[in-house]
Amino acid sequence: MADTAKFTIGDKSVDLPVLKGTVGPDVVDIRKLYAQSDVFTFDPGYTSTASCESKITFIDGDEGILLHRGYPIEQLAEQSTFLEVCYLLLHGELPSATEYANFEHTITYHTMLHEQFDRFFQGFRRDAHPMAIMVGAVGALSAFYHDSTNVEDPTQRLISSHRLIAKMPTIAARAYKYSLGQPFVHPRNDLSYAENFLRMCFSVPAEDWKPNPVLTRAMDRIFILHADHEQNASTSTVRNAGSSGANPFACIAAGIACLWGPAHGGANEECLNMLQEIGTVDKIPEFVKGVKSRDYRLMGFGHRVYKNYDPRAKVMQTTCHEVLKEVGRDDDPLLKVALELERIALSDEYFVSRKLYPNVDFYSGITLRALGFPSEMFTVLFAVARTVGWISQWKEMIDDPNYKISRPRQIYTGSAKRAFVPVSKRG
Ligand code: ACO
Repeated sequence: MADTAKFTIGDKSVDLPVLKGTVGPDVVDIRKLYAQSDVFTFDPGYTSTASCESKITFIDGDEGILLHRGYPIEQLAEQSTFLEVCYLLLHGELPSATEYANFEHTITYHTMLHEQFDRFFQGFRRDAHPMAIMVGAVGALSAFYHDSTNVEDPTQRLISSHRLIAKMPTIAARAYKYSLGQPFVHPRNDLSYAENFLRMCFSVPAEDWKPNPVLTRAMDRIFILHADHEQNASTSTVRNAGSSGANPFACIAAGIACLWGPAHGGANEECLNMLQEIGTVDKIPEFVKGVKSRDYRLMGFGHRVYKNYDPRAKVMQTTCHEVLKEVGRDDDPLLKVALELERIALSDEYFVSRKLYPNVDFYSGITLRALGFPSEMFTVLFAVARTVGWISQWKEMIDDPNYKISRPRQIYTGSAKRAFVPVSKRG
């Protein structure tokens, strides 16, 4: 393709540079467009706009490809561990054995929370949604770890990144335990990241908790599948918040708030609710009718970028089968509903013509429920996993000498300038 694109409006003509990524479509650089032509572009939801340059994650939505630092998600999910993927996302390369051991040690030794931090949880109602607790508690980290909030200092940036990856499972498990009225379980340094998290969620002082390798591996894989996903809504929120120089804990709290929405991270909770509402396979045709008449959406289907099968959904489907088998629920009626719903949707003109395929959330709800989590916790687990993606993208932005505060423009469609009328003279 050409190195420049010509833009003409009225009697003005502007040559715009065309940028090339390693892979993916070329990008027209419109940074000077307004200065040279007096017009803006209009792109609500950024469907045609790249907001940054990034080396972290690549998605080819038409082909259903997801790469982290060049490595396909399927290979990472199969052969790597979540902590290794964290290192990869943060640092750009897979670690050597020594680097991995050091990283694992660092994350493990940052998992505890300041003792006073635990008092925060008591301020919430027991029936608070755990995502509400996450937004508040993670934001509060900046009130405790002042020595890692200076965004100008690369060492502090790295320390806050480690703290966030390490402390997120501890906060998430506390949010869960608080809702149950059970005592908080402290992290243990001899356990893996996923094992530690499951133990903090499910062990009680009255009895021993034994790790199950199949379930631990499934948890780890679910974390890998959710670790990063390019410039999605919550990641863009983190970058936007960070572009003003806000500290990383505050930025991640902003990302959690965005993730909570049902069109984003809240979809797995909504998807499980939907499957439960459908209940049995014979109710599917009626349900699909409602989707087609636009009464509601088929949750766990469709994606802004994937116009093909979400590659994470395939891994999640396999993991779902493994977990259900392990916990003796391979005849779970919800799995039957999901499989049949998927089969119908993939052959139905309504979904096919709109390129609506299962996304990662379609099977994650059933899997997480089988692991023992209530649906309110699903988005929390997503937040735990996505923290590394958010913080890697935030770090990349701060390291970029060209980054600017995010400040979109608008088409103003309100009143033109008019004179103020005192209340006594208004009709
Ligand atoms: N069910 C039924 N129809 C759908 C669905 C769906 N899940 N998703 C999109 N469509 C239809 C729309 O009605 C629209 O049809 P039309 O062209 O006839 O008007 C068309 O497909 C395009 O939809 P948009 O809303 O323009 O697509 P967009 O890219 O903005 O939305 C989104 C993407 C929000 C993910 C959407 O597909 C959706 O709401 N899915 C359900 C929620 C979900 O599963 N979210 C998880 C996303 S993955 C993640 O966050 C990890």
